[in-house]
Amino acid sequence: MKEKLIIFDTTLRDGEQSPGASMTKEEKLRIARQLEKLGVDVIEAGFAAASPGDANAVRSVAQIIESSTVCSLARATENDVRAAGEAIKPAKSGRIHIFIATSPIHMKMKLRMQPDQVVEAAVKAVKLASEYTDDIEFSAEDAVRSEMDFLIRIFDAVIQAGAKTLNVPDTVGYSIPVLWGERIKQLVERVPNSGKVVWSTHCHNDLGMAVANSLAAVMNGARQVECTINGLGERAGNASLEEIVMAVKTRRDVFSCDSRIDTTQIVPTSKLVSSITGYPVQPNKAIVGANAFAHESGIHQDGVLKHRETYEIMRAEDVGWSMNKLTLGKLSGRNAFRTRLQELGIVLENEEVVNDAFARFKELADRKREIFDEDLQALISESVVAQVNEHYRLGILARTF
Ligand code: KIV
Ligand code: ZN
Repeated sequence: MKEKLIIFDTTLRDGEQSPGASMTKEEKLRIARQLEKLGVDVIEAGFAAASPGDANAVRSVAQIIESSTVCSLARATENDVRAAGEAIKPAKSGRIHIFIATSPIHMKMKLRMQPDQVVEAAVKAVKLASEYTDDIEFSAEDAVRSEMDFLIRIFDAVIQAGAKTLNVPDTVGYSIPVLWGERIKQLVERVPNSGKVVWSTHCHNDLGMAVANSLAAVMNGARQVECTINGLGERAGNASLEEIVMAVKTRRDVFSCDSRIDTTQIVPTSKLVSSITGYPVQPNKAIVGANAFAHESGIHQDGVLKHRETYEIMRAEDVGWSMNKLTLGKLSGRNAFRTRLQELGIVLENEEVVNDAFARFKELADRKREIFDEDLQALISESVVAQVNEHYRLGILARTF
């Protein structure tokens, strides 16, 4: 029996910190629904104290999500913790994620705080968070450049204050796998009561090693990985969810844990996030790139045709690539239209929106020979907006007469 690897998705928080990737509340809700369908354990929905809009988005996600924990980030201050606590209140299962920097450079140059003050602020924030929820995560920002003895001291203190998950971030993407694995191992071994908490990691990709570092952490005791769809995130991004999940699943001979992700939802989720954020997925991106399962050379094609496993270590359909890709055009019916939307991670519950979108699709198909995924995404957005406007208009008419 494998241990559980908790998948903590931060597409809506760290992912949104990618330049130009900010999302509206409605867009966040669409992504949150899809993340729940994908089976992520924790959805970090935002940073409630950042703005009233962020707080509102976290609250709205908390209202609709049933089977994932909904989390808000907070600095180790009273204002942030209260904002996060209020925002996650409607959640069936809510988490507050408190962070404070622990490296000498951050404490001195950014926080302008002494190490003792940092420990005090962390403990105070964790205690305050317990007024709202038992599910409290603590992150030592810039753990990669923090002193080991100080990390042990602050983690010990926050465990005593009530933190249940301890996150070790490589905030600046500086580590390499062998060192990161060793750091996690030391923490797990040396922090008192470390067996009572879940160890987590959060790696940035500045040197292209976020996934490798995260997996090294898992091999050394981390049981939560913080990651994002398509590797979105601050600067060069975060560890990509799809790569972590498929590495652990494909190399089950190496890892003693596994996630509960429905891997067939990976590609639809990737496409949804890409279309909403406007961040394209590079064609040779592992798992979700258009060429991830394409074989170009004659020798490879011959091998795959004779026996798929000669050149494929995963099955495309297991990560949600559709095997019988239909081309959508003016002769396509409602069923093909709906199926393609589902493949793109778009589930329309409102029949009026479906009717409107289908009519727009037919109109477009009259003018354009082939309809691409981007066309569909655009016309769905138009239909949703049209529907909202119509409700608004009817509301005004009802009030006028
Ligand atoms: O990169 C980082 O350190 C973070 C923390 C807030 C976890 O995003
Ligand atoms: Zn981060």
